[in-house]
Formats: sequence, C-alpha cells, structure tokens
Amino acid sequence: MTDKSVSQKAMELENRYGAHNYHPIPVVLDRGEGVFVWDVEGKKYFDFLSAYSAVNQGHCHPKIIQALTDQAKKLTLTSRAFYNSSLGEYEKFITQYFGYDKVLPMNTGAEGVETALKLCRKWAYEKKGIAENQAKIIVCEGNFHGRTISIISASTDPDSKNNFGPYTPGFITIPYNDTDALANALKDRNVAGFLVEPVQGERGVMIPDEGYLAKCFDLCKKANVLFIADEIQTGLGRTGKRLCCDHENVHPDILILGKALSGGTMPVAAILANDEIMLCIKPGEHGSTYGGNSLACKVAMASIHALEEEKMYDNSLHLGKILLTELRKLQSEKPDVVANVRGKGLFVAIIIKERKNKTAWELCLALKENGLLAKPTHGDIIRLAPPLIMTESQLMECVSILRKTILEF
Ligand SMILES: Cc1ncc(COP(=O)(O)O)c(C=O)c1O
Repeated sequence: MTDKSVSQKAMELENRYGAHNYHPIPVVLDRGEGVFVWDVEGKKYFDFLSAYSAVNQGHCHPKIIQALTDQAKKLTLTSRAFYNSSLGEYEKFITQYFGYDKVLPMNTGAEGVETALKLCRKWAYEKKGIAENQAKIIVCEGNFHGRTISIISASTDPDSKNNFGPYTPGFITIPYNDTDALANALKDRNVAGFLVEPVQGERGVMIPDEGYLAKCFDLCKKANVLFIADEIQTGLGRTGKRLCCDHENVHPDILILGKALSGGTMPVAAILANDEIMLCIKPGEHGSTYGGNSLACKVAMASIHALEEEKMYDNSLHLGKILLTELRKLQSEKPDVVANVRGKGLFVAIIIKERKNKTAWELCLALKENGLLAKPTHGDIIRLAPPLIMTESQLMECVSILRKTILEF
C-alpha cells in the first residue's frame, strides 16, 4: 500500500465501523512527541489542539509515561472495595496543591461535572435546607460541560441537545459574562449552585470581562450558593496560571478538573471541595469502578509535577502574549480573513471572516498542508491551544505557518 492509501484505509475503517459522532480533519495520526505529532505517512505537524487541552504537558511526556508504565507493571485497578497504596498519597497531594479538604476522583470530564452537580444538590438539601427536589443550579448560555443527559439538559447548543430529551430539570440559564443576570437569578431561594467555565472554551475561547469571576463568586457567597468552576479545559496552565480562577484569586467552592490531569494518557478527573460540602456524600451514594485507580493516581501526580517543574504555567502566559500580539498584527494586515483574535495564556482563538470556499474548516485544511493542526469550533472560530512545553522559537515557527497560510488564503 502507498502511504496515501494507508491514510485512506484508516479513515475508511473509522467511517465504516465507528459511530459518526465526530467530523475529524482528514489526517491519520500515528505518533506524538512533545509539541509534534506525525501522521501514518510520516509527515510531522505542530499540534495546536493538544487533544482539547488534555495534552498540555506535550505528547508522551517522559516523566508521565514513566509513572504510567512503572505503575502499570505493579497494580492498575483494585476498585474502591479496598484501599490501595497510591490513592491516599495522591489525595493528600492534590488537596494540598489546590487547597481543599477533600478530593473525589472520577474519570472523564463529564463524570466530573455530573459529580459536582450531585454534590451541590446533596449539599443544598442537607446543609442549605432547600426542600426536597427543589434545588436549582444556574448555568450560562453557550456553556460546554460534556455530553451526559443532565449536562446537555443545561446546554443551549442545539447540536448537543436536540432530540435527546426528555431533559433533567433544575437548571436556570443566564447569559455568560453578565453579573446582573446572575444577581437576579440568585434571588430565587432554591438556587444551590452556579456552574461556570472561567473561559468558555468550546464556544470559541469566550473570555469574560476582567473581574467577572470575582464578582460572581462574591454574589454567590452573599446568597449562600456554591460557586462551581469547570476548569476541565481552562485548568492546569492552559490560560497562563495554574487555574484560570487564579487570575482573579477566586477559590471555587467546588473545583472540577480533568483532561490534562493525566497529560493525555488516560481519563482522570477530580472534584475538589471542603468537608462541609464533600462529606455530604456518604459510602454507597456515589462512585465509579475506575475512579481513584492506582494507575490514575500516579499519572495525575506526575502530570502536575511536570507542569510545575517545567514552569509550564509561566510559559503559557508568556507565549500566549506573544501569539496574541502576532495574530493581532496579522489581523490588521489581513482583516478580510481574520475578523478578530482573543486569548488568555496559550488559549487563543482566531475568528475567521468566512466567504464561499474560504471557511474556518478550509483554513484548517490549509494549515494542515503547511504542518499545523487545528480544528474549528462553532463554524468560524479556530481555537489555538498548543502544548504548554512549546519553546519561543517553535512558537515563532508556528506564527510563520499561520502567517503564510492566512496571507495566501
Ligand atoms: C469545560 C469542559 N467541561 C467538560 C468537558 C467534558 O469532558 P470529557 O470530554 O472528558 O467528558 C469538556 C470537554 O471538552 C470541557 O471542555
């Protein structure tokens, strides 16, 4: 088989035997190292998606892979029917690192959000004193928190939502970046929590006004409502700080992490809260067979150590500023293609002025040809989120690719 037909065959297999729930860029990846991935034809690319920010530490980070393989040879899963020798060590580490009393380990991001919703409701009935089945959680328009029934019930995206009903009740939707709307919604005494993404990633890196998170947090405190931060995509360095909430010194009541907590090696999520909230859940009331497995615990510790040791938070902040400046220059040179750019750390978006056959999708195909992989979100927006281990010279190489592609587009 020729190289091209190897790619073709792999894509055909996915199309033939896999559910059609994604629309991938036509490239078949086979290997990854650091900021690079290679396709089956041997072509090398800069990865500007980082698996939706799960690979913040770069592909196959040696220390994360070492932790994974060392532990894989020793013990992977016991279930929570027994104690295991890694879980307590991990729980102590992650709670101290983020400043919480307790952690509840889960696997995927959606499970993390579900867990936070359940925990919030439990707290509402057992601590806040809301009458049975009356608890409400405020969410924002344009949110993305995952794909389970309850989570899509809180979604305003027709693709995520339509024809999946009946939906879970108990959500109030308000506009994002609107503290007046939040203040108004908080007048309802049955509100238990406010679930928010510090930056709306899937919506296209929507960055709220400075002070938004801090103001929301204060409003929640005054109303005795839990501030729940979904930092699954924004957390662990993506926006140039450990957490995006750190930009405004906000310490959420419930913090949800996922994705980069395993550096892209396996599904690992964590829900952090203090005892007053977390101990509302008792044995048998929530859990997961894989949650807190030995392998995940070791991998999560190595993933956080890698971010810290290699100063990836600072690098994200520094390179993010450079990328944004360069893209703004490009916007002023080519306003007929680049309508807008925005970003926080290495979480950046370009908004494309689409024309016939000149869409964000087509631009991503052109970028792919030139050795850079990115994917549109919501039609005309391209999110740029490379691994946080990128060097400045690599970034400048990527800026050249972006420039060349956009100028020729
Ligand atoms: C903010 C946010 N929350 C939740 C999720 C869901 O995570 P998962 O796909 O691991 O279930 C995502 C995934 O993109 C996300 O970006």
